[in-house]
Amino acid sequence: MIQYLAKASRLISEALGSESGLSQQQVLQLLERPPTEDKGDIAFPCFQVAKALRKAPPLVAKDLSEKLSTQQDPDFEWIRPLGPYLNFRLSASAAFAIVSDVKAQGTRFGHSEAGKGQKVLIEYSSPNVAKELHIGHFRNTILGQALNNIYKAAGFTTISVNHLGDWGSQFGRVAWGYQHYGDEKELEKDPLNYLTKLYVRVNQEEESNPAIDKEARLLFKKIEDKDPELTALWKRFRELSIEGLDKVYDRLGVQFDHYIGESFYIDKVEALVTELKKKNLLTLSEGAQVVMLGDDIPPCLVITGDGTTLYATRDLAAAIYRHGHFKFDRCLYVVGNEQALHFRQVFTVLKMMGHKWAETLEHVNYGLYRFKDGKFSTRKGKVILAEEVLNEARDKAVEIINQKNPDLKEKAEAAEIVGVGAVVFNDLSTDRLKDVEFDWERVLDFEGDTGPYVQYTYARACSILRQAKEKGFEPRTPGKSKVLAESEAALSLMKQFGRLGMAVEGAQRLNKPSIVSNYALDLAKAFNGFYRQVRVLDENAPREETAEKLGLVAAFRQVLGNTLGLLCMRAPEEM
Ligand code: ARG
Repeated sequence: MIQYLAKASRLISEALGSESGLSQQQVLQLLERPPTEDKGDIAFPCFQVAKALRKAPPLVAKDLSEKLSTQQDPDFEWIRPLGPYLNFRLSASAAFAIVSDVKAQGTRFGHSEAGKGQKVLIEYSSPNVAKELHIGHFRNTILGQALNNIYKAAGFTTISVNHLGDWGSQFGRVAWGYQHYGDEKELEKDPLNYLTKLYVRVNQEEESNPAIDKEARLLFKKIEDKDPELTALWKRFRELSIEGLDKVYDRLGVQFDHYIGESFYIDKVEALVTELKKKNLLTLSEGAQVVMLGDDIPPCLVITGDGTTLYATRDLAAAIYRHGHFKFDRCLYVVGNEQALHFRQVFTVLKMMGHKWAETLEHVNYGLYRFKDGKFSTRKGKVILAEEVLNEARDKAVEIINQKNPDLKEKAEAAEIVGVGAVVFNDLSTDRLKDVEFDWERVLDFEGDTGPYVQYTYARACSILRQAKEKGFEPRTPGKSKVLAESEAALSLMKQFGRLGMAVEGAQRLNKPSIVSNYALDLAKAFNGFYRQVRVLDENAPREETAEKLGLVAAFRQVLGNTLGLLCMRAPEEM
């Protein structure tokens, strides 16, 4: 579709000549999709040109269409004025060409080279270790991975980094707990769960034993001073934590190129402080070293009175290291809204230090999770674990599958794919700036705008292709079939394939995977529309025709499969 948009914009700009003051690129950016299919596939709003030419927009549209009517372009069935718009309808041959393209490009269909030569570092997940992954971190984990996939598909080189929270006084607490009532066996059984419990227990106990705070701090100080025994313990907690996190990441298809935790930056802080001093940016305030950021933002604390580093200190060092080491063109921090001020402070300090590249740092923020009441109510301020939600979704999916498809062989596997996919889709289809409303019934509704609906449509296409194979049919890329060329639903499906590339580019530009999720829904709906209108396995139809219909089904499976992959969702053959 992108090539047709480019073509339409070229035709328009040639017809406009130089008077309109619009470049071809600007025309391209103005192109829209008409509200309904009978109005064509591409619309050019004439308002801006009308202003420049001091003419009424409908007149501009009419003049343009007259100029273009002499062009016999095989890619467009018609070019017509519709009020203040000039609309284009893609021809059947152009739609068929999109299907051939799907076949030719396979898993790369929908990818582009828009970001070629650009390196983007994407930081996501970054949970605090020795704690289980809660649902808030689930959101940036999945958003970050989807963005990573989308940037790659848009031609960027990406580097994914997990900025683990593996430093800080909480380690002193866990170490205190472990020293006082640690149980090796329990730790090994389920490390993350055990460490989380240990932490909670220490905090509770502290209420009646305030001395714990000081003792725990002392223990962390020992870790900072590289005491061998405590360092070994810290390392062990860290490793076990990563193993535990990886289990969740695996279920989600989340992968990092690098795990570089906050601890990595401790020995880089000295150089940072020296640089800040040299640039006269440090001020002593109540014993602490801070950078004053002006009247609108609170100062950024760099070193506390007792000489320890802070969260922001490590972020400053991290940004400088990442830029020097990875030489990124852009760096995205996928982190919740609540840290907006923190990133403003960090980015401002870096700019004050004279780092031009600080302009390329971006906080990609997102909203919260809201559960409807029940087991997972967020009301009580209770921590909701990502794993619990995924398990619950999987178990509920088993029930649904038992009802819908009791004979299915790989039920457990299908339930995992559908359950996890449902949670992921519910998240990614929500605009990242909005809160995620979580309602089990809606999330797992096979008929709604949901993950299961999309996956079910995928499985349906697979099932059609399986049945066809049993009957001895081979899919063939559509070329001549009159039935397809005359079916609105078939043409509409083919054109829908062509919009994947646009969805990818749009999602990349705005850092919004929800654009790709919405595309997945439209694509599934277009397929179901086709399936209702056209009988694919029609015993009485000529074999050639059936083969071409199957070719369209196979292309759909490819395009939806590619789309689900971008969204960290698996594509079930059966469900
Ligand atoms: N570990 C932090 C937390 O759980 C998030 C880290 C975000 N990334 C960063 N570069 N500060 O709140």
